[in-house]
Amino acid sequence: MARYLLLVAPSANRVYSTSAPTLLANELTVLADAYGLGVASVQPVIVAGVDYLQVDTAADLTPEQLRVVAYLSSVHALYQQVGDLLAPVELPRVEVFGSDLVTILKYQGKTNEAFTRLLLNVTAAATARPERLLDRSLSVLDPLCGRGTTLNQALAYGLDATGIDLDTKDFEVYDAFVRTYLKQGRYKHHATTGAIRIDSKVVGRRLDVELAADKDDYKAGRTQHLTVLRADTLAAPRLLRAESAHVVVTDTPYGVQHGSHGGRLDRSPLGLLDAALPGWVRVLRTGGALGLAYNRHVADPEALAEVLTRHGLTLVDRPGYDGFRHRVDAAIDRDLVVARKG
Ligand SMILES: C[S@@+](CC[C@H](N)C(=O)[O-])C[C@H]1O[C@@H](n2cnc3c(N)ncnc32)[C@H](O)[C@@H]1O
Repeated sequence: MARYLLLVAPSANRVYSTSAPTLLANELTVLADAYGLGVASVQPVIVAGVDYLQVDTAADLTPEQLRVVAYLSSVHALYQQVGDLLAPVELPRVEVFGSDLVTILKYQGKTNEAFTRLLLNVTAAATARPERLLDRSLSVLDPLCGRGTTLNQALAYGLDATGIDLDTKDFEVYDAFVRTYLKQGRYKHHATTGAIRIDSKVVGRRLDVELAADKDDYKAGRTQHLTVLRADTLAAPRLLRAESAHVVVTDTPYGVQHGSHGGRLDRSPLGLLDAALPGWVRVLRTGGALGLAYNRHVADPEALAEVLTRHGLTLVDRPGYDGFRHRVDAAIDRDLVVARKG
C-alpha cells in the first residue's frame, strides 16, 4: 500500500475553477483502469491549506506506471507520503516536443489545451489497445480540427495526426504556424501544400508534413506524419483510408464561435454529426474509439448518445467517463462522450 498526493496544475484551476480536482480524479480513474495502475482510491484532500488529489495504490508505482501519471492533463507535481512528510517524485517527460507547440497559438474559439489533452487521453484509454498511446503508435484524426489544438497535442505526444476543417483562414493560419514552429525549432521536416481533388475537381487544399523531434530519428525514417485537409468533413471517407485512425477526437461546434457549416448556421452540432458519423466511423479502426467534446446547452446528451449508437458505436460507460461535465462560462456547459467501434 502506498499513498501519493497529486498537485493540480494552477492553469487547470484557472480554467476549470472548482471542477479541476474532480476532472483530474476522473481522468486518473480512467487511466488507472486502462493501464493497470493498481489504484485503490482517489479523493480530493486539503493538506496545510493546499488542495491535492490523494491517491492510494496497492504498491509503489513503477517507472512504467509513473509514465502513465505523466500523461495526465493537469498534474503540476507528484509526492509520495512517507510518514507525515511528502517526498517529491519525478515524473518522466512524455512529450517529444515542448508544450509551446500546443500553447503558442491563441485565438477565439480555441479548445482549452488541458481539456483537449484529457479528451485525447480518455479516448485512447477506451480503445482495444490503450498501450498505443504510450508506445506512440496511435494515429489521431480530428475531423473538425480548427487551428489544430488536438493535432498539436498528438504531435507533442509523438503521434501521427490528421485534421479536417472547412475554414480557409484556420487552414492558412495553422499551415503557417506549423512551418514556422518547425523551422524556428530547427526540427527536421518536409512540408508540402497542394490541392485536394475528387474526380479531378479541386475540392480543397492539403498540408502534408513528415517530421521528427530528433534529427537521428528523421534520418533513420522514424518520423511522424501530419496531414491537414481544408475540406468538408463530410468528404472524410473519400479523402482518408478506411480503418486508418485509431482514435477520432474532436471538439464539436459550440454554437457560439462556430456554426456547423453546410448551408446554414446551426446551433446544435447533432445534424452535422448525424451526417458526418458514417464517414468518421468508416475511417476509424475497429477497436478504435471516438471522443467528442460538446456543449450541453446546444446538444442534449441523450440525443447525442442516440446518434452515436445509431451509427454503430458503443458508448463507453466505465468508471470515470461520466465525470467530465463542467461549466466553462454562462454559454458553455461542457461535457464529453466516448464511444467504441467494435
Ligand atoms: C469547436 S471548433 C474546433 C476548434 C479546435 N479544436 C481548435 O482548438 O482550434 C469546430 C470546428 O468545426 C469546423 N467545422 C464546422 N463544420 C464543418 C464541416 N462541415 N467540415 C469541416 N469543418 C467544419 C469549424 O470550422 C470549426 O473550426
